[in-house]
Parts: sequence; structure tokens; C-alpha cells
Amino acid sequence: MSRLIVVSNRTPGKGPAAGGLAVALRKTLAEREGFWFGWSGDLVETPSSEARFQDIDGLSVAQIDLTRDDHHAYYAGFSNSILWPSFHLRLDLATIEAHWYEGYRSVNVQFARALLPLLRPDDVIWVHDYHLIPLATELRNLGARNRIGFYLHIPFPTPDALYAIPHHQELMRDLSRYDLVGMQANRDVSAFTEFSEHQSPSSLSGSPLKSVDFSRTEVAAFPIGSDPDAFARLSVSAAATKMVKRMERSLHGQNLILGVDRLDYSKGLPQRVEAYEKLLANDGRFRRQVHLLQVAPPSRDTIKEYQETSDTLDAICGRVMGRFAEPDWQPLTYVKRAYGQPSLAGLYRLARVGLVTPLRDGMNLVAHEYVGSQNPADPGVLVLSRFAGAAEIFEDAVLVNPFDTDETGEALRMALDMPLDERIARWQSLMAAARRHNVDDWSRSFIDRLAPSTSGDGTSTRDILYLASVA
Ligand code: F6P
Repeated sequence: MSRLIVVSNRTPGKGPAAGGLAVALRKTLAEREGFWFGWSGDLVETPSSEARFQDIDGLSVAQIDLTRDDHHAYYAGFSNSILWPSFHLRLDLATIEAHWYEGYRSVNVQFARALLPLLRPDDVIWVHDYHLIPLATELRNLGARNRIGFYLHIPFPTPDALYAIPHHQELMRDLSRYDLVGMQANRDVSAFTEFSEHQSPSSLSGSPLKSVDFSRTEVAAFPIGSDPDAFARLSVSAAATKMVKRMERSLHGQNLILGVDRLDYSKGLPQRVEAYEKLLANDGRFRRQVHLLQVAPPSRDTIKEYQETSDTLDAICGRVMGRFAEPDWQPLTYVKRAYGQPSLAGLYRLARVGLVTPLRDGMNLVAHEYVGSQNPADPGVLVLSRFAGAAEIFEDAVLVNPFDTDETGEALRMALDMPLDERIARWQSLMAAARRHNVDDWSRSFIDRLAPSTSGDGTSTRDILYLASVA
């Protein structure tokens, strides 16, 4: 069987805090052999052009260092100040500095140069996320003929947002150099199809660029999931129970509403707290009866728009506290730090409402983890944004428009008042969907589609067909 090479900006770290993706791909890598390739996390003055291998908890990981300037242009610049806001339809928060493109491209070239000597002809390469869109082009420019797949972990933008990205035409041409492009949701595939079918010429160049040919690239939705049964077990583990006991002591029987998100403007955190404020303002029954816990570990905090989101959230939480808190009751707790999966699983299980209301999101795995962690005899209610990819598979969540804080406030009321039989019926349907879309099947289905019948001598089915037709 051919080896699998996984490529992403960050590589998995040591220890039990590894995310679902790392766990799933670790299993797949153990079955097929191969390694994970990415940035080491180190910034140095003169990076070596060769990758260093290390064993991380039994996983073979090859890493390269980057210079501070390259990393800034590639990560904080082009990836997270241009691609991230545009792909999330937040052009108002984008900083369009086209010169960052050079650093972005240069890092992709460095990845390709360091990866190429490690490749065998029949290796299957799976590239992850928007930091590495040009990688297939750069590998192919160096002669790689391997099957290369790309998976986008964030939403695909509408054509208008795409046109706002400097060099978008080249980036789309880069996508066309992959054999398979995987997206989170059907919504993303539709946006991609809309672009590819109605490409308009580049506005700046004197001679319009030719449209991009996607005829050799398959594009499909592969909705990522988690391992809901693993979360079910984790939610009653000793570590989870410890966290539950701690939280129960401070709740004094109040219902817990829980949000867990990176501190990112795409997550709709200010709108969420505002919706909670409306719940408390509109229905006095809930005062002293509910508590909102928002866990929001800081993220990309060198970028101004992230600092501003953090400030806005501080202000709104302060306002709600000032308006409703009493000497012996606080309406909310806002924690700016990360917790390990066992603690989170315990909190998910304890929460009567899982509040997942991004303004726009890829799949959103918190929704999956919340569902997996519920007590089947007394499950909580998932209040979910219709703009998260998860909304396509979780029909029995309470779906909301996160921009409409009245609607989200009303959804909270409905979730808190929901009778047990309805909670159980909804949860059973959600759990069945989470199991159908589990992360193991996700990685297997992507790889099977990318390399359905790799012959083992470096020749893929597509090559065989091509050779046959020119023979
Ligand atoms: O959601 C997209 C994503 O790139 C995830 O894959 C990742 O866990 C998250 O954003 C955090 O991103 P960063 O590497 O910038 O901290």
C-alpha cells in the first residue's frame, strides 16, 4: 500500500491534548505508513532547507523552520489577514497588503523543496488548509507526479469575496493542480462551482488571464466530524468528572449554557453574549436560574482585528455583568484560556445548552463534541448557527441566524424550557448524524477517493488511462 504524507502548517504536538484531526490522521498514518510534514513552530535567521524528523508519540513528523519575516507575511499576513477574512466573507476586516503574497508563495516553495526529496513516486499527499493552496503547483514544478489532495478546513468564499483577494486567479489555478479538492459542506462546493463556471477575467492585467481549467480536478464535500463515542467515554472519565464537580459547586443548581470557541471574529461571540443579555432582559424567570460560561482561548493575537474582537467581548461581558449581576449572583463567566479535551467533555455533558453560533464557519467540531458528550437519559440542547457547516447535517439542532440576537435569545429560551422527551428525541437524531459523519470515515473516504487504486509502482489509475490513450 502506498504511503500517506499529510502536510499542514502546524504539526501535532506531544501529549493527550491532540485534536480530533491529529488523532484520526495518526490512525490512518499507522495503517498506511507515512509521515506528517509542516512548520516546526520555530523562527530562525537561516533555516535549513532540509526537514528534521522526530517521533511525536509514535507519529513520524518532519518539520522545517521559517524566518520571522517569511512567517509574518505567510501566516499573520496573507493567510490570516487576507484569506481568512475573505473566505469568511468579512472583507471589512481584511487588510489587503498584496506584498504579503510573496512571503506566502515563498513559504510554499520552501515546503515543496524540503518535502520533495522525502517523497517516493507512489506516495499519496494530503495537504490541509488555506495556508498551503499553492503547494501542489510548487511540488509539480519540481517534478512531483504523485496524487495530491487538498482539504479546506474553512468555508469557501462566494465569487465576489474571492475577487477581492490579490492573485485570486493564480490561487484558483493552484487549486486546479490538485487531483482532489475536499470542502466541508455542499454550500462550499456550490460557491466553488459558481466561481469555476462564471470566472470573470482578472481586472488589473492588460491582457485578461485565461480562465482556470478544473477538468482534471475533482471537487467534492467531505463533511469532517469528530469521534462522538470517544467523547461519550471521555465525558464520564475521572478528569471530566473532576471538572464537572468543580463547576457544579459554583452553579448551585443553575442551568449551564456553554460556548467554547477560539477568540475569533468569525465565531460571533459579541452577538452571542448580546443574545444572552436579551434572554435575561426579556424573561425575568431566568435570572439566578442560568449561567453562561464562555471559554475563549486567545488566537492570532498579533493581528489587530483579533485584539479588537477581544476588546469588544470584554466590553459586552462587562455590560451584562453590570446590568444583571448581584452581590450573590453572576450571570456569566468568561474564561480566556484553553482547556484539555477531558475537561471540555465534562463541561459539555453538564451544559443544558451548547451554544455554537459562528457568523460563518467550516464544520465546527465543537458542535460534534457537544453532541457526543451528552448523557443519553438527560441530554442538553444544541443551539447552532445556520452558517456553520454542521447545520447541513444537524437538522435537529435549534438552528438560528446568529446575526439576529432576538432570534438567538428566543432559541435559548426554547432550549431551556424544552421538555425531556423532546430533548431526547432531538439528541438521538443528532448523535446518529455525528456517528454517520465520524472523523475516521471522513479521512478514509477522502483518501479512498484520492487514491482509489494506487497500483504500488508509482502509477495511478489516471496515469494508466493516460498512458493507454497515448500508446
Ligand atoms: O479552522 C481552521 C484552522 O486552521 C484549524 O485547522 C486550526 O485548528 C485553527 O484554525 C487554528 O488556527 P491557527 O493555527 O492559526 O492557530
